Amino acid sequence: MTTNAPMQKTQNQPKWERNQHLVLLGCGKMGSALLEGWVHQREKFKCISIIEPAGISAELEALDLITCYDSLEQLIAQNTTPIDFVVLAVKPQVMLDAIAPFSKITDENIVFLSIAAGLSSHWLREHLNGTKQIVRAMPNTPASVGAGITAIYADAEIPKQKTEYCVDLLKAVGEVIMLPNEQMIDAVTALSGSGPAYVFLLAEAMQLAGKKLGIPDELSRKLARETVFGAGVLLTQDPSDSSTLRENVTSKGGTTAAALSVLMEEDCFLDLILTAMQKAEKRSRELGELVLPN
Ligand SMILES: NC(=O)c1ccc[n+]([C@@H]2O[C@H](COP(=O)([O-])OP(=O)(O)OC[C@H]3O[C@@H](n4cnc5c(N)ncnc54)[C@H](OP(=O)(O)O)[C@@H]3O)[C@@H](O)[C@H]2O)c1
Repeated sequence: MTTNAPMQKTQNQPKWERNQHLVLLGCGKMGSALLEGWVHQREKFKCISIIEPAGISAELEALDLITCYDSLEQLIAQNTTPIDFVVLAVKPQVMLDAIAPFSKITDENIVFLSIAAGLSSHWLREHLNGTKQIVRAMPNTPASVGAGITAIYADAEIPKQKTEYCVDLLKAVGEVIMLPNEQMIDAVTALSGSGPAYVFLLAEAMQLAGKKLGIPDELSRKLARETVFGAGVLLTQDPSDSSTLRENVTSKGGTTAAALSVLMEEDCFLDLILTAMQKAEKRSRELGELVLPN
């Protein structure tokens, strides 16, 4: 189910839907991409508190809406506004240490929205004082230009309005899809979470091959990037299957057919992508296991 309906910004919105105190734990690549989207939706927040020891840009720090803290202890000491939502955006490997201070908070109304790969709701719940309100999401890096796609899973126990608020938070950086079960997140991580890197590798390979065919490096770079960009736009604007779009540009005996005869010989390209994604999915599951304490 896609959930990209326009946001409602009417005066009739329930009070809790506006004016939330959001805490962002970790403001690296993905955290800052989300933050960039949220600063354009000020009406949704009472305030945004960031816990990021490395700090944030002076530009973001200058906004009234945002305050950056070194730790949860510092936040609680300086800001008495009750916390409503916490977005967990640190690497899975440091999550255990990063969320430890939150386990002392007893407010069961706080929703924890985790974007970390691999870490299950069950694992997070165990390390967050047993809280039931955990939502998992898997965004991807095009979020940094507002063109992300995020898959989200929320347990049925979480109040609908709170799930919708999480969906809205993620819609600030692109489209959002609800998943029917949590197990699917590992496969989604392998597809859309890691997927932009596969496309970047394709652009890289095309650029290098173009250079070997005698095209100057800068020109080869531009041609490869614009080709990937243009094909991406076509995919989003033409409802045809990607296989149909491929067939549409492949004339019998032509140049594209010659190239595809190599890429598609005995399904080698399809098999390679499948093997790569299976490995990514397995790694996602392993990340969840790796961080488990002994
Ligand atoms: N990047 C992606 O494509 C992508 C896609 C989907 C999901 N995700 C998920 O998003 C999460 C963040 O990934 P990222 O790529 O944004 O990583 P990142 O750039 O390394 O950002 C994580 C940030 O958290 C900070 N941090 C470390 N320990 C902390 C602590 N105890 N308290 C507060 N902040 C702390 C890090 O600071 P230092 O650098 O100083 O350690 C860093 O600034 C990961 O769980 C990942 O699985 C990422």
